[in-house]
Amino acid sequence: MPVISAPLDFNEDELYVDLRSIFGHSLFLKCEGFNFAGSIKLKAATEMVEAAERDGLLRPGSVLVESSSGNLGVALAMIAANRGYRFLCVTDARCNPATIRMMEALGSQVHVIGEAATNGGFLAARLHYVRALCDSDDRYVWLNQYANPGNWQAHFRRTAPAIARQFPMLDVLFVGAGTTGTLMGCARFFRQWHRPVRVVAVDSVGSVTFGGPPGRRMIPGLGTSVRPQMLDESYVDEVVEVEEVDTIRACHRMAGRGFLFGGSTGTVVSGAMSWLADYPDSDLTAVAIAPDLGERYLDTVYRPDWLQELYGADALRTDEPATTQAA
Ligand SMILES: Cc1ncc(COP(=O)(O)O)c(C=O)c1O
Repeated sequence: MPVISAPLDFNEDELYVDLRSIFGHSLFLKCEGFNFAGSIKLKAATEMVEAAERDGLLRPGSVLVESSSGNLGVALAMIAANRGYRFLCVTDARCNPATIRMMEALGSQVHVIGEAATNGGFLAARLHYVRALCDSDDRYVWLNQYANPGNWQAHFRRTAPAIARQFPMLDVLFVGAGTTGTLMGCARFFRQWHRPVRVVAVDSVGSVTFGGPPGRRMIPGLGTSVRPQMLDESYVDEVVEVEEVDTIRACHRMAGRGFLFGGSTGTVVSGAMSWLADYPDSDLTAVAIAPDLGERYLDTVYRPDWLQELYGADALRTDEPATTQAA
């Protein structure tokens, strides 16, 4: 029986859903949404905050500030509340309303950027605002999830070893790419493991992370409008890019069987299934990472009028996802 005193002390790291009965191909989905922050970002947030405390950057009176599409913000809001720091989250108009309310409920302040920068989109506008704040007052401490090594180290130390313990014969791992912290931590770990593992990055069409042209992306979590600083493509074996409409279909297919996952899980699963479809007779042991659960997406991914307006009446058509594969 786990008994905890701090909310960050609990994280379910050993739960997988086998998607074979839903998609017809075995894929073990590692569920990262079962902790008090509700997402995989708890691990990155904990690692970065503890490193900043050790290094003397974070002190009583410090104000944490971070640019986040939501989940890191919620995790930092939780840790800040527990440890007595103030926290200001800089997000943008695509952040789910429920996520903003959650941060506020935890005592944090949220600043929503309404307009994208001409060069670099919403992310560039968010980063510009954070830099200006830090220049204005030295009590602000910016952990900078896009460059902070604690982000990928959290997954090198915790996420990847947890997968390795459960799947000693792992062949392929599918990881969604946002800041690429999860991807780089897992890829670095499996590069030095006892057997070769193909690490496949899954990204959204419209993201510039792997060199594609920028385009509209409405689902937070995956994809970037500025290339992530910590990405080292030499660790990534393949990249699969997924259209948002296929993300939506994958989410609804899982929800139709009782598994309500977040938007980025739909992207990762859609990309993984399309990759696995090229190996129909193989017996590959495949794992994918599900960063969060679906409650935060009730106003978007799971709301029919939002879907219809953005993706058209066909969005919930249930035939096979069409996914582009890039090198
Ligand atoms: C829902 C969701 N999925 C995926 C990711 C991407 O993770 P990473 O930043 O480690 O690439 C994030 C990051 O915020 C997220 O919130």
